[in-house]
Amino acid sequence: MNRSVRNLMLGVGGLALAGCATAGSLDQAAQTSSAPDRSAVSIAPAQPAWAARDAEMDRFLDELIGKMTLEEKVGQLTLLTSDWESTGPTMREGYKQDIAAGRVGSIFNAYTAGYTRELQKMAVEGTRLKIPLLFGYDVIHGHRTIFPISLGEAASWDMDAIEKSARVSAAEASAEGIHWTFSPMVDIARDARWGRISEGAGEDVYLGSRIARARVHGYQGDDLSAVDTVLATAKHFAAYGAAQAGRDYHTVDISERTLRDTYLPPFKAAVDEGVATFMTSFNEYDGVPASGSKFLLTDVLRDEWGFDGFVVTDYTSINEMVPHGYAKDLAQAGEQALNAGVDMDMQGAVYMENMVKSVEEGRVSQASVDRAVRRILEMKYRLGLFEDPYRYADQARQEATLYKPEFLKAARDVARKSMVLLKNEGNVLPLAASAGKIAVIGPLGNSKPDMIGSWAAGGDRQTRPVTILEGLQAREGVTVEYAKGASYEFADQGKTDGFAEALALAKSSDVVVAVMGEKWDMTGEAASRTSLDLPGNQQALLEQLVATGKPVVLVMMSGRPNSITWANENVPAILHAWYPGTQGGHAVADVLFGDYNPSGKLPVTFPLNVGQAPIHYDMKNTGRPIELGEPGAKYVSRYLNTPNDPLYRFGYGLSYTSFGYSPATLSAASMVAGGSITASATITNTGERAGEEVVQLYVRDLVGSVTRPVQELKGFEKIMLQPGESQTVSFTLHPQDLAFTRADMSHGWEPGEFQLWIAPSSGASASAPATFSLTE
Ligand code: NOJ
Repeated sequence: MNRSVRNLMLGVGGLALAGCATAGSLDQAAQTSSAPDRSAVSIAPAQPAWAARDAEMDRFLDELIGKMTLEEKVGQLTLLTSDWESTGPTMREGYKQDIAAGRVGSIFNAYTAGYTRELQKMAVEGTRLKIPLLFGYDVIHGHRTIFPISLGEAASWDMDAIEKSARVSAAEASAEGIHWTFSPMVDIARDARWGRISEGAGEDVYLGSRIARARVHGYQGDDLSAVDTVLATAKHFAAYGAAQAGRDYHTVDISERTLRDTYLPPFKAAVDEGVATFMTSFNEYDGVPASGSKFLLTDVLRDEWGFDGFVVTDYTSINEMVPHGYAKDLAQAGEQALNAGVDMDMQGAVYMENMVKSVEEGRVSQASVDRAVRRILEMKYRLGLFEDPYRYADQARQEATLYKPEFLKAARDVARKSMVLLKNEGNVLPLAASAGKIAVIGPLGNSKPDMIGSWAAGGDRQTRPVTILEGLQAREGVTVEYAKGASYEFADQGKTDGFAEALALAKSSDVVVAVMGEKWDMTGEAASRTSLDLPGNQQALLEQLVATGKPVVLVMMSGRPNSITWANENVPAILHAWYPGTQGGHAVADVLFGDYNPSGKLPVTFPLNVGQAPIHYDMKNTGRPIELGEPGAKYVSRYLNTPNDPLYRFGYGLSYTSFGYSPATLSAASMVAGGSITASATITNTGERAGEEVVQLYVRDLVGSVTRPVQELKGFEKIMLQPGESQTVSFTLHPQDLAFTRADMSHGWEPGEFQLWIAPSSGASASAPATFSLTE
């Protein structure tokens, strides 16, 4: 993407710009109105190519729906799971009968060309109307070839790489009969205790919105009827990441302003990119479970945003409206869900068991059922399934597609780009080609299952992943030996069984690569923690390894920010590798040896300790900011025992080279309604290696009708610079890019004074800003 196009994308982070309008069209829209336009939504979303109305399709669906019984319609609203045994896929006997009777229209967790063909045959040959099944699956960060976990990919800040990962995932998944992925997860997450922080794009609204678009486009391409694309799902709608105390599935109680300004924009970005489906979340919002929320599913999603696809629940989340205390029984829960705007019931069988009666007794209208059925059948039609229900179940394509060398290459490339160099004192890294003897130590150093992280559902956990030990051993000219040394199991805290062996290996080596962090399933669903420390006895071993005096490099593998405060003070080099995927071991070796110069930047703040959570860079200033007091002042907003600053800031990450930033300059001192302002800075590679840098644009709105964050990301660009090379990076802002939910709950910008930084991380807001005003 060239610079000018990238700049036009600035609005996608908020509700500001919808679609890819040109700057010209925006300016014109504002200039032609007589009153100054301070609203944010000045143009309609661009319709994705697939969404164009198709008269042929409408005729076909009218006719089909006209023939369907109420029971058959409810069948189309039902999604049931398949199972997977060690011997391969299996289907519960009752579910097979449901397929054959037309009581289920979609199946998830079923894949491979052969198996989906078998199930499809039951639907197409066995049912009265021959409506094909839709096959969904959690293809989250790769299908067979596994890429880094989603949070890791986000750390690349590389939209092409992220889109590529989704593209490869779609190619592999669709070759195995899958039509629909339950991805991307676009939940903003700011609490490291929450295990599902690993599944999203981190804490930031703007970065998260850009990534949401890249992923949706990667999965769906421009043409849903192409056999190598799949339907994407924006999930979990909404505010799932704001669970109280970081405990999964817990209550969410945030203001509508926070919902709209922080949690909704990535969902809106997914709609603007043409996402085909939405998934509801497990949590309640404002006292109403998301699957029963007319406010979320109809008022916002359909009426405000014009979403045209279908909505599926999360797993049994209609049923869960009973324990939530929102429905007295399942029948009522189903009625509440359908009337709120849920089209498809995942695994709960609530619609299946109750909806016919609910319609017959008048608590749900036929029209609402018909609307939901049509939305689902439309997607089947757009995928081409009515033309050929078996078009995704192609054995030859499956064999030719899975684990293609180019996919493995892409996985290695994205993994390298996702890694974040957190510390490199004394240039311990990169390791010299003649590094001598390397000791790989730690429970994650040679563990295949851990390499691919959680939600790698179709991934091979046992044989394919390349471990870090294997990646390093594949290098010529070095000797690499391994000792596990420690354990990440919680129960092993205090044990020292493997220490002696590990310490002996360390002492006989030239450098220690300690590979530590969390077990793969300590993040993901239902994996919240109340400590962010290294689990098990890893910390104790790390301290003893450092005490040997050998240079130690800590390679972290984890799906959340860990409070590695001791390591930051005592270990000379730290590389965060997340869970890097099938090719992860090679990718880590590439970075450790400098074949790839690390370029990742943190998409989440790393707290000093768990007590700081939730923490994010775009906090409010408060009436008593710590900077206003004398050092140590008591009555300011602070902790008695921990600084306010985090361990590592959002946007932070080092390189093997260094970059210098000129002060930011502005094209004008002020911007008017309908105008724009361009901020520029010159970035110079001041080191001795070529390297990439993520140049970040932050803005602060000093005074608003409601208080504004101390800084907000409004743009970024990843550039490559040779040693000594300089490049001027420019960002063009429009008033709409500064929009927020104002005091009266309208969305738009306000005149006033702004500060601006072009910086290597969010930390730079401590430095002198450029300033501009925005006037009507
Ligand atoms: C529950 C998870 O919350 C959701 O993300 C996933 O897509 C579904 N289960 C289906 O597996």
